[in-house]
Amino acid sequence: MLNIALPKGRLGDKVYKLFAQINYVCPEMLEDNRKLVFESKESGVRYMLVKPSDVAIYVEKGAVDIGVVGRDVLLESEADVYELLDLGFGKCRLAVAGKKDFVEDKSLPLRVATKYPNVTQAYYSSQSRQIDIIKLNGSIELAPILGLSDVIVDIVETGTTLKENGLEVFETVEESSARLIANKSSYQFKKEEIELAVSKLKELL
Ligand code: PRP
Repeated sequence: MLNIALPKGRLGDKVYKLFAQINYVCPEMLEDNRKLVFESKESGVRYMLVKPSDVAIYVEKGAVDIGVVGRDVLLESEADVYELLDLGFGKCRLAVAGKKDFVEDKSLPLRVATKYPNVTQAYYSSQSRQIDIIKLNGSIELAPILGLSDVIVDIVETGTTLKENGLEVFETVEESSARLIANKSSYQFKKEEIELAVSKLKELL
């Protein structure tokens, strides 16, 4: 039995459809209910629906064998897992953005609002730039508008949210897309099964 963590929501639906195409079918997954665990003995698979930002933890701790997670969230989690495959969708980038007229004062620490404190700290440390992180959980774009921060480090997909709030991208921090990850022990114990899934996915993609 292969245990798979899927991110709850649109990305998860897309990933399930992909897995169904490589024969990990579980018809229950398409039902409209509030269940979080779905099993198909015939397909030898058990799916768990997990909050996207928790997928890497479930995989790292071995609660599931494999999972799908955005590279942005994976980097932020700093989870010790194997990254097996870039699924090529869910593309976006983590970027530094701010008000169009923002002028940086390099003599002061930069005030950065973000949901991604680890990635943000690593990025600015690599530039030896001192920052003060303001950790937020959503609507990050509000921070520079209200003067809570100088800039934000956040996900940019279409760019609409920035545009509609009078903000613009200054720098790209990381590119992201959906990644297939595996627990390190599971990868040893279920190597054949996991590698077969990876090669079928590669073929399909
Ligand atoms: C994400 C992100 C941006 C937006 C970017 O927010 O934090 O706000 O999507 O997408 P765009 O470039 O296509 O406009 P999300 O919808 O996850 O909500 P949040 O504000 O709760 O983070």
